[in-house]
Amino acid sequence: MPAAPVCKIGHPVLRQKCASVPHKAFKEEALKQFLDVMVDTMRKQNGVGLAANQIGLPIRAAVLENRTGARYPSSDSFKLERLLNLRIVQYSKKTEEDWEGCLSIPGYRGLVARAKWVVYEAMDESGRKIKRKVSGFHARVIQHETDHLNGFFYMDRMKDLNHWMHLNEFNRQLGLTVKEHD
Ligand code: NI
Repeated sequence: MPAAPVCKIGHPVLRQKCASVPHKAFKEEALKQFLDVMVDTMRKQNGVGLAANQIGLPIRAAVLENRTGARYPSSDSFKLERLLNLRIVQYSKKTEEDWEGCLSIPGYRGLVARAKWVVYEAMDESGRKIKRKVSGFHARVIQHETDHLNGFFYMDRMKDLNHWMHLNEFNRQLGLTVKEHD
């Protein structure tokens, strides 16, 4: 399955609230293929998550996976998830700050406070309901992708834009050598 180009910040589709996937669409081969394209696009870009509107289709679908930690070296790994109609139903009161990037905003990192854990609901492709509690980096990615599906970027959540950096500056200040290709 070929990877798709990723829409960059400024593209109006990224500010759209994505529409729920209707139940009748769950059986359709086209939806399965679209999710395959999302997974390939995420992997090719070394991303840890991707929302459907990032490749131009404003439907409530997201994929996430953290295999190698290449893009976020100290993060926990988590398995591939293909989530339809994703929504967060519970947030921890406690928050924690960490750095985030985004495939739609290449070459930047921002310090974002997120809930330490969340409970999310979604459907898999066969229409089975998923309900899970996740914490740490996994919870952060769920929050980041849910934001995309609602038309938000991580900077919208930042308290202090002094902590929004070009990747070169991020690497210099934190003593890292994180690279991105695009
Ligand atoms: Ni993103």
